[in-house]
This record gives sequence, structure tokens and C-alpha cells, in this order.
Amino acid sequence: MSRKILVTSALPYANGDLHIGHLLEYIQTDIWVRYQRLMGNQCQWVWADDAHGTPIMLRAQQEGITPEELIEKSKASHERDIAGFLLSPDNFHTTHSDENREMAELIYTRLDDAGLIIKKTIKQLYDAKENMFLPDRYVKGICPNCGTADQYGDNCESCSATYDATELKKPISQVSGTEPELRDSEQHFFALSEFNDMLKQWTAGPAVQEEVGNKLKEWLDTGLQNWDISRNAPYFGFEIPNAPGKYFYVWLDAPIGYIASHLNLTKRTGENFEDSWNPNSDVELYHFIGKDIINFHCLFWPALLEGAGFRKPTGVFCHGFVMLDDNKMSKSRGTFVTAATWLEHIKPEYLRYYYACKLNSGITDFNLNLDDFVTRVNADLVGKVVNIASRCAGFISKQFDGMLSEQYPQTMLADYEKLVNSKSVISDHYETREFGKAMREIMLLAEHANTYINDAEPWVKIKQEGNREEVQAICTVGLNYFRIIMTYLSPVLPELSAKTESFLNTTLSMAALDSPLVNHKIEKFKPLMTRIEPAQIEKLMAATAAQNQSAQAASAAASPSTASHEPVKDEIDIGDFEKIDLRIADIIDAKPVEGADKLIELTLDIGIETRTVFAGIKAAYDPSDLIGRQTVMVANLKPRKMRFGVSSGMVLAAGPGGSDLFILSPDAGAQAGMRAK
Ligand code: 2FM
Ligand code: ZN
Repeated sequence: MSRKILVTSALPYANGDLHIGHLLEYIQTDIWVRYQRLMGNQCQWVWADDAHGTPIMLRAQQEGITPEELIEKSKASHERDIAGFLLSPDNFHTTHSDENREMAELIYTRLDDAGLIIKKTIKQLYDAKENMFLPDRYVKGICPNCGTADQYGDNCESCSATYDATELKKPISQVSGTEPELRDSEQHFFALSEFNDMLKQWTAGPAVQEEVGNKLKEWLDTGLQNWDISRNAPYFGFEIPNAPGKYFYVWLDAPIGYIASHLNLTKRTGENFEDSWNPNSDVELYHFIGKDIINFHCLFWPALLEGAGFRKPTGVFCHGFVMLDDNKMSKSRGTFVTAATWLEHIKPEYLRYYYACKLNSGITDFNLNLDDFVTRVNADLVGKVVNIASRCAGFISKQFDGMLSEQYPQTMLADYEKLVNSKSVISDHYETREFGKAMREIMLLAEHANTYINDAEPWVKIKQEGNREEVQAICTVGLNYFRIIMTYLSPVLPELSAKTESFLNTTLSMAALDSPLVNHKIEKFKPLMTRIEPAQIEKLMAATAAQNQSAQAASAAASPSTASHEPVKDEIDIGDFEKIDLRIADIIDAKPVEGADKLIELTLDIGIETRTVFAGIKAAYDPSDLIGRQTVMVANLKPRKMRFGVSSGMVLAAGPGGSDLFILSPDAGAQAGMRAK
């Protein structure tokens, strides 16, 4: 019996371009969805733009347009990229929709009726110049824990402490550049703490990957806090029923957007909507997400659903991030490749295939190495797969008027069966999101097919008397291998599959593989896929660098949070400066710190001794890239005891923060221990 499956991908924010990092998840989802459909399951992918929140409101202001205009523009651009990468959602909606308002209000009202909404007055930072309360990411100040300047209102990149924005010392609004004031404000909290036990059980079960469950256990063991689901006007979102001036926080109505997109789809198709969402539903529900939004999907979301009487997800499929040539993608490094720029230079299926080769069911990051990408795609898709067809097709069309042999050669039937039987292991890999394993299995079949054609030498036999039928049989076998392989690859390569269907004059399906294609007319062969040339990559990266540079210049001009606008600190005299012992340091080791997402543990040689320093630069550097480099450190900073050990000094870095942070390096010739003068 066919399964009923609903699938979602994370909703992209409606204020930015899609990039190749987003595409990892969307391609992963698309392959899985297409695989389910190939297996004859009823699989629908509901998706949308995430259209609410402060960043969208402010971005629209900057552009001098309304938020509605901004999100409409974004949606059109996202839809172009979705089509460009051959993604096949059944619906791409928006969270700024009637359906989402209806669903958000319904869920909120049910929670309220169940006593799960608690109103509480809290103190929040208010920007009196812009007349708005400030979200945590729009305030910066001095970390209340370690004293590092220029830290966001939610956590410190240097010591990893988390805190409330109101605890920051010398806070500055990143919207106006002024100092905010503290104001009382009543907020609506969802009673998340009531769901601690349910979530402990749910996250230990099959819905959550084991490594994700282990991460969540730490939070759940500490006990969950209630969750503030409201924001004050001005805010771009939905006003909370009976609470004028209060809006749903974007992270409340974003996942509800999954339900709303499904509602919008069923309105169009006339299918049943409620059956998918009631607690006893027989529809499987899966969310594909990145590891940065685990808490929203594995804690807040199932609790909201349960509290409002909806079903919970069957599974949350979490993935890691893409690194580009060993770097995090960032505009400052010129490695932020947008979907649209990719499509201008390289066909989408090449990326789809490469991602498929790299994807598995885990959450570790992986590297998109552009040299490896070119080699792999050319060797596998062009050299192995398409090659099978191009070596056999010419003979069939020229010598046999496009006709395959009347019967499949008896001696090759067992081998045909063997290839068809690989279906079960390949299907298992697709089902469990072990796409890399599926691709390896399929490429073994392609190698097998090429070996067969090489050994059979139809090009030699066609020149010999009396071998015509044998050549037709060899090419029939070769093209049947091609058909099997392309059927297995069809979730990954939809365009090549469509071309294969036209060429073989048949529909690719798992069921059709039961009998080989014989006594059948095929079409004339047209080249199905060409090699990627390294020059295409060079053009892609040059276009990306230029685009990143202009995007950075534009954001520097627009935002008070960037380095050029950062106010200069209070004056110090030369005596103060001389107290700072700046030393050249050789980085002799660098490693990630378990349990601290932002920190790298550096071992620094400063000539006279080695020091351990914890630096909040993980978002900007891969630790292994730092080993062997030199930097400048403050050597006489009082050692600080941190959760992970003692930090003896501080390395110097510049930049707005996050992935745009650059450690300072001396010129060649500087030696460890030299004092900066
Ligand atoms: O992190 C993000 O990009 C969010 N826009 C994802 C939302 S997913 C869902 F919850 F809506
Ligand atoms: Zn700190």
C-alpha cells in the first residue's frame, strides 16, 4: 500500500537571495521527495517563504518600499531559483498569507484556552529615536560576563555566555546607533516548561536523529524556560488576537507556515486537509532542517503542536552545513555563491549530483571542493553514465533503424536481473538519506555496464561479416543498463531523466524495470550532457567575488552596526597603551571546543612560553586552517577562567563579527615573542 507523506524544508527568509548553502537542504529534500514518488508513494512537499520579523521590516525601510513589496519581490526571486534548480515542491506559499493568519490564530487561541499562554511584564531595551523595542540581535554592548566589547544582545562570541540583552553593559542600538533605554512591556509566553517530560520522551525516540537527541538532552535535563512568543509594534507580522500592539514572534508563525502552505494546497486540489494534522493521522510528516534551528523544530514546535491538539512530526531530518573550498561561505571572503549566479554559469544537475554524493543522514558539515566537483561530475556523469548511451545509440539508429533487438539475449538475462535487484539496496539508501551510498552503488553499475561494452567491442564486430545481430544485441543490453541506471538516478537528475525518456521513447519507473526494453524503437541520440570546463568555475567565482564586494559595500553604507560606523571608544593616554603587552604568536595548535559553538582553543607559542587562549572566531575559521599561522596577542591580559578552561591572553581580530572576523597577522619576518612597537 502506498504511503501518504508530507514533507517540508525550512522556510527561507523573504529578504535575501537563496545561495548554495540553502540549496543543500532543498536538493536533499527534492531528491527524497522524488524518490518517494518514484516508489509510488503519495508524497507532497509543502513549503513557503518566511516573511515576517524585524529584519524584513527594516530592510524594506532601507529600500524605501513596503514590507509587502519586499516579500513579493523575494518570493518571485526564490521561485525563479526553485524552478532553476529543478526543485519540485507541490506548493510554495508565504507565511504572510490568510491561511497562515488563520492557523496562527487558531493555534494561539487553543493554547490560550488550554491555559498555556502566560502574560508577564518584563523589561526590554527601547530605541527612543526609532520608537521601537529592540530584538536581541539589534543591540550590541559589552559582555556582562567577560567584558568583551561589541557583543550581541543574546550571547558573547568571546566567552559563549548567554544572557539577556538588558544585562549588556553600554548597550548601543544597531538600528539608530543611540543608547537604548529600559522600558516595561507586557509579553505573551508559551508554557513550554509544561512539555519538558513529553519532549524528553519524544526526542529520545525515532523522530529525532540520535546525535540531535543527545544535544537536546542537555537542555531538557536543565529544564526548559517558557518561551516569549510576542513582539511589540512596530513589527511586520500578525497582530495577536485581543492584544492590540502585540504581534506573533516570527518564529511562532514560521513553522505554522508549513500547515498553512498545506491548507493553501488542499484548497486548490480539493484534497482533505484535517486528516493530515489530527493526532491520529496516518500521514507521515517530515521536516528537513539545518542544525542551526534544531531547538525550534525539536522542542518548541512539537510542544506547540501538542498543546494545540495537532499531530507531531514523524521525523525531523537535520543536516550539517556546506563549506566552500574549506571556508565558511561569506561575503567578505567572496565565497557567498547565490543560486542565480550559479545558474548563470553551471547547470543545476551538476550541483544536485555532487550534493547527492556528499549527503548522508548525519549532521556533520561537508566541503564543496570545486576541483573535486569538476572531476567527480565529469568522471561519473559524463564519463560513466552518459557514455553508456552514446557508445550504443549510434549503432542502433544507423544500422537498425532505431530498433532494439526483438528479444533480450538469453545469456544476459541473469545479469539484467542482478541490476534490477540492486533496486532494494539503492532504495534503502535513498529512504535513509544515505544518498552518497546510493550514488556509489549506482556508479558501480555504470562501471559494470562500461566494462561490458568495452569487452564486447561492438565497433569491432560491426566491421566483421555476420555479426550484425550480435551488435544489435550488445547495444540493446547496453541501453537497457542505461535505462536501469537512469531510473535509479532520476530523483537526482530530473532533466537528464526527461531527456532519457525522450531518447528511449519510454517512461522511467521502478515497476517498468521488471521487463527489459526489447523490440522497441528509440529516438535518434542527441548529446545528453557535456563536461564542465574549469573556466566555468573561474567565471562563477569571479562573478561571485564581484557581487559579494558590492553587496558588502551596500550593507556597510546602510547599517550602523558595521565597522565603519562603530563609535571610537573613550581616549586613553600613551601610558595606558604601554600597559598592553602585544606579542607575535605562532599558532601551534587550534581545535574546536566541545560544547562551545563559537570558540576555538588556540595553543600559542610566544617565544618564552606557550599559552592557551579561547577565541570566539569559530564562525570565521576552520581551526585546522589556523595552525602554522602567526597572529598578534595581548600577552598580559589577566587569565580568565571560562567554562572550558583558563584563557591566558587574547588574540587580536577585526571585523563586524560572526563569520566576518579577521585575526591580525604580522608581515613575514616577525618571530614569536617579538613585542609590537
Ligand atoms: O532559519 C531560517 O532561515 C528560518 N527562516 C527558517 C524557518 S523554518 C520554519 F520554521 F518555518
Ligand atoms: Zn563574554
